[in-house]
Amino acid sequence: MTLQIFRTKQVTDDHAGDQGLKRCLSAWDLTFLGIGAIIGTGIFVLTGIAAATQSGPAVVLSFVLAGIACTFAALSYAELASSVGGCGSAYGYSYSAFGELIAWIIGWDLLLEYGISVAAVANGWSGYFNNAIIAMGMPLPELLTKAPKMGGLINLPATLIILILMVLLIMGVKQSAKANNAMVFVKLITISIFIGIALFNVNPANWHPFMPFGWFDKAPDGKTTGVLAGASIVFFAYVGFDAVSTAAEEAKNPQRDLPIGIVNSLGFCTIVYILVSALLTGVVNYTELNVSSPVAHALKLIGFNWASALISTGVIAGLTTVMLVLYYGLTRIIFAMSRDGLLSSFFSEVNPKTQTPVRVIVLCGIIMSLIAGFMPLGDLAELVNIGTLAAFVLVCFGVIVLRITKPDMPRPFKTPFSPLFPVLGMLSCGALMAFLPSLTWLRFVVWLVLGLIVYFAYSMHHSHLAKNGKGIAGS
Ligand code: ALA
Repeated sequence: MTLQIFRTKQVTDDHAGDQGLKRCLSAWDLTFLGIGAIIGTGIFVLTGIAAATQSGPAVVLSFVLAGIACTFAALSYAELASSVGGCGSAYGYSYSAFGELIAWIIGWDLLLEYGISVAAVANGWSGYFNNAIIAMGMPLPELLTKAPKMGGLINLPATLIILILMVLLIMGVKQSAKANNAMVFVKLITISIFIGIALFNVNPANWHPFMPFGWFDKAPDGKTTGVLAGASIVFFAYVGFDAVSTAAEEAKNPQRDLPIGIVNSLGFCTIVYILVSALLTGVVNYTELNVSSPVAHALKLIGFNWASALISTGVIAGLTTVMLVLYYGLTRIIFAMSRDGLLSSFFSEVNPKTQTPVRVIVLCGIIMSLIAGFMPLGDLAELVNIGTLAAFVLVCFGVIVLRITKPDMPRPFKTPFSPLFPVLGMLSCGALMAFLPSLTWLRFVVWLVLGLIVYFAYSMHHSHLAKNGKGIAGS
């Protein structure tokens, strides 16, 4: 980690270290990067499903609870991003706080979070895209729009959108950030249109009963309901603010700008979520919302067909930004793990022309496009939440550990009320994990065991820091 701390301190350098990533992202870009990653399937799709099946109109409380847990985690992220730095995000911070094995586990976990998120959101994107081309009278054959498990051959739009983003990311991060900013703008306009219309069409009767499913209940088949179960699902809506921290080596002034990017994007999105979820359950009855495009559907139900079509277009742009930023984050985490020797050095080479890690971008793009094409959304989504929550717990714990082991490390941003806030972050994120179904836990454990096999078979023998005899704790 010595290397990463050193590298991050060179904030005035135009290029970050010998790998040549270009420092070009401002606090503004980073905030937009966060919003680009955060607002997506969670608010546009899962809000309706959670309201109809788990929380009722109290889905707004589910958003508040998940938002509180994320706030604690975000403050811890901001402290570690400003002090430890590095593009490896929670992987890098765990390296610094706990040493290599835990860092590997969390890095492996992040690969699951980011990779599966991209594939999951591509599935949601494909749903909206298919609706749009059907509305234009140019439907694709059904076999090409569904995964085999859902009766199709391949989800072609989901596959293709990932390959298009692959090309965009290869072209360079500044170009990607520009495209991202434009699409975030479109996404924000769509949300404003919804809020503007919904504000004047609320029927307070729709908010009764407010908590039809109570706080928490588990059926004999393992299915969970209630506001707390809803919180562990809508948590997906917040996934992505951590992606800002993966841009540390391309930020112009990471110590100052990363905390700004993380805290601002999360704060902004939390407010948007509370507004949208409260209004959505206010304009139509929550029982009507178990559909794949609840926001557009609600507008149609109250007679705003034009706005419904406009919202769908904005959602297509919105989901594109989510995939773009999470894909970007994934490649940067692999890049960091590879540079440390835990993954093959094949992945850490930066193309001198584009100044982007082209190999890793292409490899991830191909794998994720296959997953997106052949696996349905439902199988992918829950895994993302458990992986992300596990990373958040460790990041909060990392703040506590580093305050003890490295009290003198410069901390341009400090988590307030430490260790209280990090402890609350660990407890709240841990609780959200506990509300997830047992099958999700099983899949998560299988992924982690696979990771341990890779670590003991390859990574521990190739680690640069271990080879150089540099203990992390002593960095
Ligand atoms: N937060 C992102 C979304 O809701 C992953 O799509």
